[in-house]
Amino acid sequence: MRELIEKTRTFRRFHEEKDIAPETLENLVNLARLGGSARNQQPWQYMIVTDKSLCQKIFPYLGWAGYLSDWKGPVAGEQPNCYVLCLLNHDWLKGSEKEAQFDLGIATQNFLLGAMELGIGGCRIGAFSPKIKELFVMPEALEISLVLALGYPAETVCLESLPAENDIKYWRDENQIHHLPKRSLEDLLVSLEQARPFELK
Ligand SMILES: Cc1cc2nc3c(=O)[nH]c(=O)nc-3n(C[C@H](O)[C@H](O)[C@H](O)COP(=O)(O)O)c2cc1C
Repeated sequence: MRELIEKTRTFRRFHEEKDIAPETLENLVNLARLGGSARNQQPWQYMIVTDKSLCQKIFPYLGWAGYLSDWKGPVAGEQPNCYVLCLLNHDWLKGSEKEAQFDLGIATQNFLLGAMELGIGGCRIGAFSPKIKELFVMPEALEISLVLALGYPAETVCLESLPAENDIKYWRDENQIHHLPKRSLEDLLVSLEQARPFELK
């Protein structure tokens, strides 16, 4: 499990020529389906996109790697060759949208872990243009909230500890290796002192 979690990184450059079968993507959505859900509302639906011409129409709406300011995104030949649009169904949502976003995190992690087990990598894209919806006849209840860009990875990602300056920005070296700093376990573990009785509210 640990090995799979470590390998399940965000990938942004792919072997565009290596197709992924729609059935494979359906199986991965089936993993997303089984994730935990606040109030068990399960408000997410998914559109699998493998059609090449539609993939080409989606691509310009996506924002890539904000910290890599001199990189405009994957070039032709390295672009994702399929997408999964994550759609919030407002008719199925009875609680808060915040709860739904938790659910989507769980669902997409299930999806991406299952994908990585098959050698498929992906990138969650939250920075897409709202104009993307103009590509579709959108039912009123559905809202595109996240795009998963997918493909067979064509880049190396190195997990590292945070540098001394506490800089969380990922970066690429001259060999285009992607360096990804993660906070250390020690930094994450917190021990709160217990409040004394007179301080309890
Ligand atoms: C909710 C969410 C939205 C994200 N949106 C984008 C995005 O719009 N573009 C992008 O290139 N990466 C995006 N990412 C990927 C993050 O940059 C990536 O998760 C982070 O750099 C850590 O890398 P890791 O996923 O390999 O741990 C997003 C990730 C999450 C969880």
